[in-house]
Amino acid sequence: MSIQLKAISIAVALGMVATAAVAVTQEPITPIQPVKNINLAQVELGKKLYFDPRLSKSGFISCNSCHNLSMGGTDNLKTSIGDHWQQGPINSPTVLNSSLNVAQFWDGRAADLKEQAGGPIANPGEMGFTHELAVDVLKSIPEYVVEFKQVFGTDAINIDEVTQAIAEFEKTLVTPNSRFDQYLLGDKDAINATELAGYTLFKSSGCVACHNGEAVGGNSFQKMGLVEPYKSTNAAEGLSAVTGKDADRFKFKVPTLRNVEMTYPYFHDGEAKTLTEAVDVMGRLQLGKKYTEEENAQIVAFLKTLTGDQPAFQLPILPPSTDNTPAPKPFE
Ligand code: HEC
Ligand code: HEC
Repeated sequence: MSIQLKAISIAVALGMVATAAVAVTQEPITPIQPVKNINLAQVELGKKLYFDPRLSKSGFISCNSCHNLSMGGTDNLKTSIGDHWQQGPINSPTVLNSSLNVAQFWDGRAADLKEQAGGPIANPGEMGFTHELAVDVLKSIPEYVVEFKQVFGTDAINIDEVTQAIAEFEKTLVTPNSRFDQYLLGDKDAINATELAGYTLFKSSGCVACHNGEAVGGNSFQKMGLVEPYKSTNAAEGLSAVTGKDADRFKFKVPTLRNVEMTYPYFHDGEAKTLTEAVDVMGRLQLGKKYTEEENAQIVAFLKTLTGDQPAFQLPILPPSTDNTPAPKPFE
């Protein structure tokens, strides 16, 4: 009898676990997993490089200039400011959770974070440097030479190691534990009635067709202006620049909506100043749907529950330049 009872209670317990698991997996959005399998030594080195403006020609621009980790991994500008105060061509996407992206850049032209990290240093409109000169700067600083040796086991610093370390650091920039993830994980009180109504609308009206998964986006390329064309003065053409196919014109990597409250302004051209505006444009252009003020506010309230724990670490202190370090050229 007692054995039978025990069996029943185990069956019930298993049943409950199974239902709970199904309930979680049925949601189109899944909680952000804390980062695992990272090389801590590379992360520490990559963190320094991420903050080091000496990887730029001016000695003034670091990755953090345009992907400010105090501001959601963005610069909060319509388009970025590069070397010589050049006006950037496109809005700077967040680096937070970028390891979850199917590819990097709005048009996906870099396969992964390592490939991406080589781009900005040598981009004349961004850091304006060359890989050779950036490596020369690092080689002139004994603390860096020692640390590269400890991390990679070789005496020669090269750009491959630089981008590898930065990419490893970027993998740590995930933002778990948002109120919405707490809700997904079973704490039904983690979001309020308005936010839940927003999530319900987000699902029922079809936003989840493109914004889904762990990053609530980042996993596909979709046309901007599916139902109604998007008008922009920005020259970016999206995926077609990579594939050469006309059918890919105006397809952009669907941005993650994690921490979207912090990553304004919105869209590849940075034209939408507020979430209210972005939600209105998405509703009309992607779904042919005009939301009422109340519905829009509900969706915005839901989107704000996607802000997770921001990266927290001690600010890296960078080893000083030496007499041999090539001088920065901010005005040449
Ligand atoms: C001058 C501003 C600027 C600097 C400096 C800069 N970036 Fe960016 N970053 C951008 C812009 C703008 C884009 C989008 C470009 C595009 O999609 O064509 C971008 C894209 C990215 C992406 C892709 C994100 C995504 O969702 O597709 C990553 C990752 C990234 N940068 C990391 C870095 C790293 C690492 C550094 C330092 C080595 C760096 N960036 C330096 C402006 C900058
Ligand atoms: C057909 C796919 C698709 C659907 C459906 C869709 N989106 Fe988007 N969403 C995109 C793409 C692509 C972009 C980037 C467009 C661009 O930058 O030009 C985007 C951008 C956004 C942005 C701006 C994010 C940023 O960082 O710039 C927000 C906010 C957003 N969508 C919310 C929504 C909401 C809310 C809905 C439902 C009303 C929705 N989306 C429906 C594909 C979609």
